[in-house]
Amino acid sequence: MSPKPAKDVAAMMSARHVAIIMDGNGRWAKRRGMPRSVGHQAGVNALKRTVEAAPQLGIEWLTVFGFSTENWRRPASEVSELMGLLKAYVKSDLARLEREGVRVRIIGRRDGLPADILAIIDDAEARTARNDRFNLQVAFNYGGRADITDAAVRFAADVAAGRIGPGGHLEAEFGRYLSTAAGPPPDLIVRTSGEQRLSNFLLWEAAYAEFVFQDILWPDYGPDALRAAVQEYMSRERRYGGVDADDVLAPG
Ligand code: IPE
Ligand code: IPE
Ligand code: MG
Repeated sequence: MSPKPAKDVAAMMSARHVAIIMDGNGRWAKRRGMPRSVGHQAGVNALKRTVEAAPQLGIEWLTVFGFSTENWRRPASEVSELMGLLKAYVKSDLARLEREGVRVRIIGRRDGLPADILAIIDDAEARTARNDRFNLQVAFNYGGRADITDAAVRFAADVAAGRIGPGGHLEAEFGRYLSTAAGPPPDLIVRTSGEQRLSNFLLWEAAYAEFVFQDILWPDYGPDALRAAVQEYMSRERRYGGVDADDVLAPG
């Protein structure tokens, strides 16, 4: 009898890229009889704890959903509160992130964002552009459909201009037009608060991601919850459309 082929070692490694739909700030505040804004503020502290913990768990890329293209539907006061919190987060944490070798990218549509937010985004990206110890992507004014649509428009223009020709690997080429092009696709997508939907997050990139839904409101998130999500991920078997190595019969 031939020995069993070793399990795919790569599948046993920590999730290289974790993407998180940080959900439940409003419910967290409501349970305490407080306004939603208090939940969002507590959510920023959870983000800080999570960013700190990620590299220690072997994670190299962390993408967090901060504001969706649909979140403009919320009351104007809440929208400006969320904009203000991005500003406050960058202001309070950028120097430390820069020092600790974190490269910061803000992904999503620039159109429609106020000038002061755009300036903060540019500054955060420029100041950390040479860092490579850890990658933090903040999806802000991000929607998967918007991102794919915007990419398609630029892709079509390059096809029309002859810069992209037939015969290439068009799927891979198209991926380079998305705002997530700098990094690998997410291995693990986490959503907190018990909701089990993507809400327009990373539609293209999620093709082979593993999903973990955690029954914890985002302001309560931290290192232990992130570790639990990664452990759950490590127990999964990824196949990418193929078959498990154990199920491939040895020839003869
Ligand atoms: C997540 O918390 C933060 C953002 C969407 C910006 P929510 O504000 O969605 O909180 P719930 O879902 O109402 O509890
Ligand atoms: C998704 O959460 C967006 C962010 C976490 C930024 P939402 O709370 O906006 O999603 P829905 O409305 O419950 O689908
Ligand atoms: Mg929500």
